Formats: sequence, C-alpha cells, structure tokens
Amino acid sequence: ASLLNRDELMFSYKGILYPITICSAEAFKALESFEARSDDVILAAYPKSGTNWLRRILIDLIAISQKKTPGEEGSGNAEKPEEIPYLEVGDPEKYERMTKLPSPRFMATHLYPENLPTSIFRNKVKILLLIRNPKDVATSFFHFSNGVAIFPSYETWDDFFTDFMSKKVAWGSYFDHLAEWNKYIDNERIITISYEELKEDPILGMKKIASFFGFSLCEEDFSRIAKNTTFKAMKEKSSETHGKFGDVLFRKGVVGNWRDVFSEAQNEEMYRKFQDSLGGTKMAA
Ligand code: A3P
Repeated sequence: ASLLNRDELMFSYKGILYPITICSAEAFKALESFEARSDDVILAAYPKSGTNWLRRILIDLIAISQKKTPGEEGSGNAEKPEEIPYLEVGDPEKYERMTKLPSPRFMATHLYPENLPTSIFRNKVKILLLIRNPKDVATSFFHFSNGVAIFPSYETWDDFFTDFMSKKVAWGSYFDHLAEWNKYIDNERIITISYEELKEDPILGMKKIASFFGFSLCEEDFSRIAKNTTFKAMKEKSSETHGKFGDVLFRKGVVGNWRDVFSEAQNEEMYRKFQDSLGGTKMAA
C-alpha cells in the first residue's frame, strides 16, 4: 500500500501498466535482444497465480535432478534466487549478467508472450504456464496491492475489482494474458498446470513437470520437495526467503478465498468476462 496513486506508481509500456519502482522502459528495450538458451526453464504466469510457489518447486526440481542440494554453487541460478526472480524486473544490465549464469537458467515472467524476447520461441525454450482461477487471482492481487508499497492501495474491494476488470492493474489484463497464451497452448514446448491441480495433488503435478523438462528424480525426492513447499512450510520461512514481502505474499494459500470478497453481481460479471475472452478454449475446459 502506498500513499501515491495508480498513475504515480505505474507506467505504461505497449499499452500495459507496470510498477515504476521495479520495471523500466530501458530494461524492456534491453530484454528484446536477450538471447535465450534452449535449456532455459521458463515459468510464465499472471501475477498472483502461485508463481513463487512453483518457482521454488522448479528450483528444487532442477537442483535435486542435478544431484545438488538446492542453493548449492553451480545448481543453475538457484543459489541466487533474489537476482532474477522475474525476467522483466530489474536494471537493463541484468541480461548481460545472465549470460554468465550456468545452465539451466531459471526465469519467471508475468509478460504476455508477444512481449517476450523472440529468441525464446526461436530457440525452442520449454515453458511452464501456470494458471489460476481468476476470482482467487483477483482476491489475492487486491490484498497484495494493499500490502506492498510498489502498488497502489485500494480503499475498497469494489474499486480494485473495477481496475482488475478494466486492465488498470500491473501486468495488464488477466483475461488478455490467458487469451494470448492460449494461442500457444498446443505447442509441444509449452505445458500448462493450474494452481488448483497442484494444490490437490502436488506430487502428481511435480511429476508432470519433471517429465516435461526431463528432470530425473526418485519418489523420495518428490516427497521431500512436496514437504518443503507446503504453504505452511514456505510461510514459516518467508521473511528469510522474501524479506518484507514474505508476510503479504504467503497470505492464505487456499482455493476459493474469493467468496470472502465477491458479490453475486461481481461473480456473474467475471463469469461473463471469462466466457467472452476464453469460452470454448482449453483454458475454460
Ligand atoms: P493468496 O493471496 O490467495 O493466499 P504469486 O506468487 O504469483 O504472487 O502468488 C501468490 C499466491 O500464491 C498467494 O495466494 C499465496 O498465498 C499463494 N501461495 C504461495 N505459496 C504457496 C504454497 N506453498 N501453497 C499454496 N499457495 C501458495
């Protein structure tokens, strides 16, 4: 939550809003010529879909499949998670620093696919697309926006809902994001996983991911990662891993928390918007 308003905290780049404190037009320009490696591991998700959870799972899967303890020197960039959590976040020089990282490099992104560097598609990089129910995403985003200073604060949930539905939040519209990614959904280098399926059966979800990326792990490894990445376990360590963001980031970690804030009319409005943007696609199935 900040005393500054939306226009002071965000800037628009190619029609989409981004937080001014962590993103810049200069970095976006530099990102265009970023050279992806074919063995990069990319996690794509709209904000508040569980990105930090899956990021942690992926980093552990990579490290353990390389027979390294997560965090050990040489296990990709896992030893420096604070350096590159998001491809588009940071200073323009970070892409040069990334050229020195060992493979496989891990990166997350909230960008629409059309705003990603073209080398990602040219070099056939594998992408894990994480999706989550829009109502829980909006609820999570509302609380996060009020909890951290890089985003505007909202006096009421209704005000946030209006902004969320009209693309006036950071990283643009949930619906456009998914509709754009939906164009790639049948691409064999893209796998989709939902927050809800991961929550229901984390080990099954992890096995799906590991087999897609070709990581080899044993049953015990999967159980260990599942145990270390429960909501409770991650929340307990959150001030260590995410500093001052920890507390607001690991908020509830459940499916269906939208019921606390949505009115019946908002529920219907979102249903209609979802059907209009994504009805008939695999995203809606
Ligand atoms: P809630 O606000 O609904 O609790 P992101 O990392 O993309 O910003 O997403 C944040 C959301 O993921 C938050 O949702 C957070 O609680 C949830 N989350 C984080 N770690 C989790 C975990 N280990 N298990 C389940 N949900 C988790």
